[in-house]
Amino acid sequence: MTPWDIADRPRRRVGRGLELHDEIASTNDRARELLAEADGEGRAVVAEVQTAGRGRRGRTWESPGGVNLALSVGLRPHLATADAWQLAAAAALAAWDACNRFAPVTLKWPNDVVADPDGAKVGGILIETTVDDERVREAVIGIGLNLNWARRDMPAELGTAATSLADLAGGPVDRGEVLDGLLDALDDEIVAIESGHSPRERYRAACSTLGREVEIEAGEGRIRGRALDIHEDGALVVETADGPVHLASGEIVRLRTAVPA
Ligand code: BTN
Repeated sequence: MTPWDIADRPRRRVGRGLELHDEIASTNDRARELLAEADGEGRAVVAEVQTAGRGRRGRTWESPGGVNLALSVGLRPHLATADAWQLAAAAALAAWDACNRFAPVTLKWPNDVVADPDGAKVGGILIETTVDDERVREAVIGIGLNLNWARRDMPAELGTAATSLADLAGGPVDRGEVLDGLLDALDDEIVAIESGHSPRERYRAACSTLGREVEIEAGEGRIRGRALDIHEDGALVVETADGPVHLASGEIVRLRTAVPA
């Protein structure tokens, strides 16, 4: 019995088969390789240790073995390129849903799972897509969650801004149960977006960034203002001193609760 003894999913696309690695460079790379194999689509690739785990914006993803979840799934989604942002929202909602079964978490734009209310990071999502003008051809959805990695054991530079689901739940969580819930939720989310149901409303409801004062690194500069909304194209709408700005991507470097006028 391993922590990953999870349900078979013969009728589902996400998580149809599970591939476990004690150590791998990056689960995202393996999931992409699997897309070239017959039956490789949707296989869940899980690793205890990644030697070259990637985060967003060129960062590395650190996670010790035996305590967390590093998962990737490769898909050929039926999705227009203009709707590619929905994959990230769908993955974020699936992670949010799976974590919320254990402790309250929210989403920080664009797709971090964070503690409610202190905003420490529980997990992150890296989506790597191949697109043409019209369609998303391939997408690798990578999800990293801090599950039983106690905050007190994290390196100092992480421990100030990160936490784990176990810290929030007040005790260890069953990693197989989290993975089970995550794969089912991700499958449901992918079915929904492929059927034309935008995740926007549910993403907005789960996103604790809205209504906050934010400072966001975007392109060469920083945008400051109040996060107002998620536009129907997935962009974050920020009310700045110069008017509303739409951000399709970026990184929040500062976030605080807006002071009522
Ligand atoms: C972030 O918040 O910067 C995104 C982190 C994504 C990490 C996951 S772990 C599984 C998958 N494999 C990777 O190399 N990265 C993602």
